[in-house]
Amino acid sequence: MNVHWLQAYRPGSGLPGAFYTDPEVFAEEQRLIFRNSWFFAGHSVELTHSGDYMTFTAGGVPVVVVRDRDGRLHAHHNVCRHRGSIICTGEKGRSARLVCPYHSWTYAHDGRLIGAPIMGEDFDKTIHGLKKVCVEEVDGLVFVNLADTPSPFHELRDHLSPILKSQGMARAKVALIRDYELDVNWKIVVENNRECYHCEANHHGYVSVQYDTENDNPDLQDEIAERLGECRLRWEKAGLDVARVNTSSNNTAEWFRANRTPVRKGMVTESPDGQVVCRVLMAGFTDADMGTARANTNINFWCHANSDYAHTVRITPVSPTKTIVRGYWLVDENAVEGRDYDPEAIAAFHHQVMSEDWEICRRQWIGVTSPGFEPGPYSPTKEANVDRYVRWYVNQMTAT
Ligand code: FES
Ligand SMILES: [Fe+2]
Repeated sequence: MNVHWLQAYRPGSGLPGAFYTDPEVFAEEQRLIFRNSWFFAGHSVELTHSGDYMTFTAGGVPVVVVRDRDGRLHAHHNVCRHRGSIICTGEKGRSARLVCPYHSWTYAHDGRLIGAPIMGEDFDKTIHGLKKVCVEEVDGLVFVNLADTPSPFHELRDHLSPILKSQGMARAKVALIRDYELDVNWKIVVENNRECYHCEANHHGYVSVQYDTENDNPDLQDEIAERLGECRLRWEKAGLDVARVNTSSNNTAEWFRANRTPVRKGMVTESPDGQVVCRVLMAGFTDADMGTARANTNINFWCHANSDYAHTVRITPVSPTKTIVRGYWLVDENAVEGRDYDPEAIAAFHHQVMSEDWEICRRQWIGVTSPGFEPGPYSPTKEANVDRYVRWYVNQMTAT
């Protein structure tokens, strides 16, 4: 890539403006990061039956994930081995076979080519199966990796699973999906997500429920310590992993994190008043006061899972100046819409937070694309995660 942009980068400060706009940088990100990392694709509960599939693009590459008759997930390049047509055209569907709409070449769920009409006697179907993409699942979250030799998935699984397995996302249902199309570079969105320095001034609803902005507030130290102590004891008794129970948003590993935090005293979930928004709790919880399990991964995923609903996010860069953020809201599989929950009420809290963030991102975007922009230093405490993320990003972009 254009090294001269990197020469302008100073560790401890943000990226130079060109990183947010240059098409060459974007192309390199797609190649070096998005086609070489574990990309959050969606939820396994979106694919409950044999033949259920979902399509999406990862690193600009069309991918399909499909469940076979034995319940296994397969991921393939959604590209026909004949003349390259997209095979599954919808975003979701169910099909006993994957049939190309162009000339009807037909593939099994595992990618084998099983039908190719009028191709002559010498045609060898066995060497024209769909190209495979690596796919893995952890506690209901589906990740794909387009690399030929992906980084080991077990690192992520081992880290996330102790926290997320108790949240029941593998046996939930999707209450709502909402796409946000943002006219900003994807890194603006991720960097914003990696700090809560901005929360006090911008997220009044969020900070009234979470302790993120109070970790260094002397007036609340006793309350936080008491709340943590009480929750740890109660959660341990309920069988939860309490090794990473704290109110911090700091990274817990190099390119991913997971922890569990109590919400503020008197509250039990992330909702406008801190009370449950779904009457049926997830994962068989009988106590609603189980905190928020928070996780994220570089490059495109974060999650806030509460006792009554879980919220996850998938980020898809479309161009240097366009990003699609998909928000998912999950509830327990036994919850009935209208009786136990209203999807809008489930989504209200995080929709509000995201709407506030998109406005922040939009304003920052105007500035970083100006010739007057010069990156300033990160707060060593409040923005340590952003600094860490940007350093990781630069390492990926310069890896040989
Ligand atoms: S391009 Fe798919 S069958 Fe021809
Ligand atoms: Fe925010």
